[in-house]
Amino acid sequence: MKIYVTRKIPEAGMEILRRSFEVEVNPEDRPLRRAELLSKIADVDGVLCLLTDRIDAEVFDVAALCKGFANYAVGYDNMDVVEATKRKIPLSNTPDVLTTATAEMAWALLFAAARRVVESDAVMRSGQWQGWGPLQFIGQELTGATLGVIGAGRIGRAFALKSRGFEMKVLYTDEFPCLELEKELGARRVPLRELLKASDFVSVHVPLMPGTQHLIDEAAFGLMKKTAVFVNTSRGSVVDEAALVKALRDGVIGAAGIDVYEAEPKPAEGLAALPNVVMTPHTASATVASRNGMAVKAAMNLVAMLEGKRPPDCLNPGIYEQL
Ligand code: GLV
Ligand code: GLV
Repeated sequence: MKIYVTRKIPEAGMEILRRSFEVEVNPEDRPLRRAELLSKIADVDGVLCLLTDRIDAEVFDVAALCKGFANYAVGYDNMDVVEATKRKIPLSNTPDVLTTATAEMAWALLFAAARRVVESDAVMRSGQWQGWGPLQFIGQELTGATLGVIGAGRIGRAFALKSRGFEMKVLYTDEFPCLELEKELGARRVPLRELLKASDFVSVHVPLMPGTQHLIDEAAFGLMKKTAVFVNTSRGSVVDEAALVKALRDGVIGAAGIDVYEAEPKPAEGLAALPNVVMTPHTASATVASRNGMAVKAAMNLVAMLEGKRPPDCLNPGIYEQL
């Protein structure tokens, strides 16, 4: 059977795929253009795709022989799950293996923004530092402060649990109570409004879906403390990025650490010019362990799909129950 990989992934996954299939990989180190994607998948049995590929009805029409699509990501807002389910095409993602890496990146951004690490680094490199000063680069202290965690799924929980050493007061929002956070940290589940008002640090860990689009908008920033440090490692569109730029520029909040953007690869107009934001290029899952784990998971999911079995990380398991 033939599969197509829309961009090279770590060898750990490629090896599994080559063992079972005839594999073609996008030879360029860039996302495929739409026309390229459509032309490559017409005669394949399976596709290993990325969050930069839109997998929708048009793709399913063209890939008429395709027995499944394995996404190399935990987020799957790039895939039309409803349409795939209608057509009984299995989809999968890569949960768990990137939880630690993503939670750690949220902390890296939080610290970097709170202690102005990147801004300070720029001053050192440019040779502008004139020597120690009592009022230079004053930031925010974490220990004992209030941490607001929006979304207590796998990543939100892992992120929150890592606050233990800093003895933070933890607030969280979620559809359901999280007993682990309440027991381990004495965390309290509160309405979003209350979390935004009370937190010194706010980190978002929700998936992008219709109900979370622009969850953090101008009104939300308006509720936060003037000194608040805001972190986003989820999806760009969970935040109204123009409102973020305005909030950072006008001192509505203190600082931000941002890994994801509404119109990647371009940050919103004005964001990159602000000193009080630290930006990374959607690399929260970019550790050796995490990316290898994602590669293995995506490959195993695709192998299962093409063997006609339910993949371990199936996003539409209902299709197997209807069979
Ligand atoms: C990365 O953003 C992922 O969803 O895995
Ligand atoms: C700072 O370097 C201090 O000694 O207070």
